[in-house]
Amino acid sequence: MAQFRGMYLLAIESSCDDTAVAVIKDGIPISNVVSSQVSHSAFGGVVPEMASREHQKNIVSVSKMALEKAEVDLQQMDAVGVTLGPGLPGSLMVGASFAKGIALGLGKPLIGVNHMEAHILSLLIPQNAPRFPFLCLVVSGGHTLLVVVRDWNKMEILGKSLDDAVGEAFDKCAKMLGLGYPGGLVIDQLAQKGNPLAFRFPIGNVSNYDFSYSGVKTSVLYFIRDNGTAFVQAQLADICASIQYSLLKPLIEKSILAMRQLGLKQMGIAGGVAANSGLRKTLAIQFEKEGWELYIPENQYCTDNAAMIGRAAWYKWLKGDFVSLSAQTNPRLGIGGVIG
Ligand code: KG4
Ligand code: ZN
Repeated sequence: MAQFRGMYLLAIESSCDDTAVAVIKDGIPISNVVSSQVSHSAFGGVVPEMASREHQKNIVSVSKMALEKAEVDLQQMDAVGVTLGPGLPGSLMVGASFAKGIALGLGKPLIGVNHMEAHILSLLIPQNAPRFPFLCLVVSGGHTLLVVVRDWNKMEILGKSLDDAVGEAFDKCAKMLGLGYPGGLVIDQLAQKGNPLAFRFPIGNVSNYDFSYSGVKTSVLYFIRDNGTAFVQAQLADICASIQYSLLKPLIEKSILAMRQLGLKQMGIAGGVAANSGLRKTLAIQFEKEGWELYIPENQYCTDNAAMIGRAAWYKWLKGDFVSLSAQTNPRLGIGGVIG
């Protein structure tokens, strides 16, 4: 009798500035390779044209590396999963065209994945994963969302940022303080040595479960202008701690409110800002008090990666949910297929 050798999926992610490829076996990543484009840092943000060119340059070698690390051949793949949106138009097109070429060559199905849904589903990669329904806070350079996850394909957005994403706010504040790009981690590290109540920056208090971060950015700009760079340098740790306090407060308060109001017992955090030590620590303390469970994926699955794309594609493979080879990317694709 022929033995089932497992289901292999090649997953490709190129929605922003990370070229990522992973090999997934029966829903579990067996390799996860990411090539991050450092060249954008000199410009203080991602340059879209440069990002798509870099993807074009790197995607073949990143794919080869992912296959080598997984110790499998391309011919063994049973399906190809790829991010179709949301993201930068040119960047998405590189990954999608490449994925289509492979699916066509292998004669295997193509699976289209929503990048944001994949961030949420990254929480289900480890054995110790939340159970449906759970709350998910998605916090990255491009998104700030509070989502109720009822199933792998049933997600409801409770709230979102009305302007900048929280990661973007971290990065813009860091840039103004001369801390480089992306500066979320540097603010986090400096904040650990500072007093969060030393200075007051606005808390984006908007109604319901929504968020707003443009006010913090403007007030940091005026703070630097009014106090001068010498003062800013001398007080850097306290300033970073105070900025971080104002960015995290609404995330923490609204997550707790949603958990209570919806009677949920488990929450996950996804996206690059999930790496923030202040966010992790404060939520962990609050959740312990309430008897709730908090789940945060390993860093390699928090930041942009293809393992999460593979996990999302695997659920779709189980249901036979494939796309045609003429499927188009959608830079504004929202959760549940709604245009955001
Ligand atoms: O999910 P991600 O890798 O890329 C997307 O934006 O999709 O997230 C990157 C964001 C950047 O804004 C970066 O500054 C932020 O995550 N970030 C952090 C930390 N580590 C990364 N923000 C705050 N604290 C951190 N430790
Ligand atoms: Zn992302």
